[in-house]
Amino acid sequence: MPFYHTLGQLPHKRHTQFAKPGGGLYYEQLFGTIGFDGMSSLLYHVHRPTMVRHVLESVDMTPRVAVDKNMLSRKLLGFQVPPADDFLDSRTPLLVNNDLIVGLASPRQSMADYFYKNADADELLFVHRGTGRLRTLFGTLPFGYGDYLVIPRGVIYQIEFDTPAPGDENRLLYVESHAPIYTPKRYRNHFGQLLEQSPFCERDLRRPQDLETHDETGDFLIKIKKQGALHSLVYASHPFDVVGWDGYNYPYVFNIQDFEPITGRVHQPPPVHQTFQTESFVVCSFVPRLFDYHPLAIPAPYNHSNIDSDEVIYYVDGDFMSRNDIKPGHITLHPGGIPHGPAPGAMERSIGKKETVEYAVMVDTFRPLMLTEQALKLDDGVYYQSWLDVY
Ligand SMILES: [Fe+2]
Repeated sequence: MPFYHTLGQLPHKRHTQFAKPGGGLYYEQLFGTIGFDGMSSLLYHVHRPTMVRHVLESVDMTPRVAVDKNMLSRKLLGFQVPPADDFLDSRTPLLVNNDLIVGLASPRQSMADYFYKNADADELLFVHRGTGRLRTLFGTLPFGYGDYLVIPRGVIYQIEFDTPAPGDENRLLYVESHAPIYTPKRYRNHFGQLLEQSPFCERDLRRPQDLETHDETGDFLIKIKKQGALHSLVYASHPFDVVGWDGYNYPYVFNIQDFEPITGRVHQPPPVHQTFQTESFVVCSFVPRLFDYHPLAIPAPYNHSNIDSDEVIYYVDGDFMSRNDIKPGHITLHPGGIPHGPAPGAMERSIGKKETVEYAVMVDTFRPLMLTEQALKLDDGVYYQSWLDVY
């Protein structure tokens, strides 16, 4: 997060004595990224954040790749991902490479008896269905429909849903990114402030609130993802024991409905929809917007050659004007190397239309994506021929 935030109590000077009311000192922790060059925060714990009591089992989480050299356009029926009680069990990796994992999850229950941290990757959780709270050692982030939760690597969290769902009421898209997830640099000035032409501003970025401080010792299980394995460590103090923190490195939320679309007289290219950037992929938000207003405009996108990237679109809600037979929860993959474009009839159908009410999330990767075994189970198997007139 490129701006300063603080919650709770702090000493006047960093790296100085910060006395507890009952005697003793609070324990300072620098929480940074990119060595000492990236964004960081300073946290003040009641207990040492280093008190490992036991190391339990490790479970391999490496996605099982079924197709490593993909040249087919695909449509995955995402809502067919089965729900699971546990949040981590429910996460189903679908499209992967050495830079990221894109997956879907339908967790039924809140995390109650353990905490989680991803030490490999920043996480981006997109909330399609369900409401609740992301509880973290930085404070709490309430979430609901359309929220992107940006969780920097190393943040310890628990996710809670308001209604532990008997069915599949909670639906999440998630991305694990080995490169940090930032807002696009071109939206920010030299000082990091979001510019007037940015499609969102600081007011749209929701920061943690309601810092929880648990002065508790005992056994606290933290599941830590590292090198593709899930390690279980038991700590001797509650991970949410921070009395105060400040800095730039913390989780935050941005809602897709707060993205202000940039439109033009003729069709605008995907970068106008960009929401996040990393070294290895971009994330774009397609939101309700007025269509192009040149008298001869064609609102549907032109065919284009995405020679340098694989394009993934997750369809959220609304009417997806460039495609036929697309439903919420579907994912399309258009691999680099073969051009793609509107479905037959979509170009003609779009002429004269004034607006779209679609919501969709796009993830464009700079290196090819592989499909997992779970992805193949969702593949409709015929989408790659959907540009034929007879389809
Ligand atoms: Fe495209």
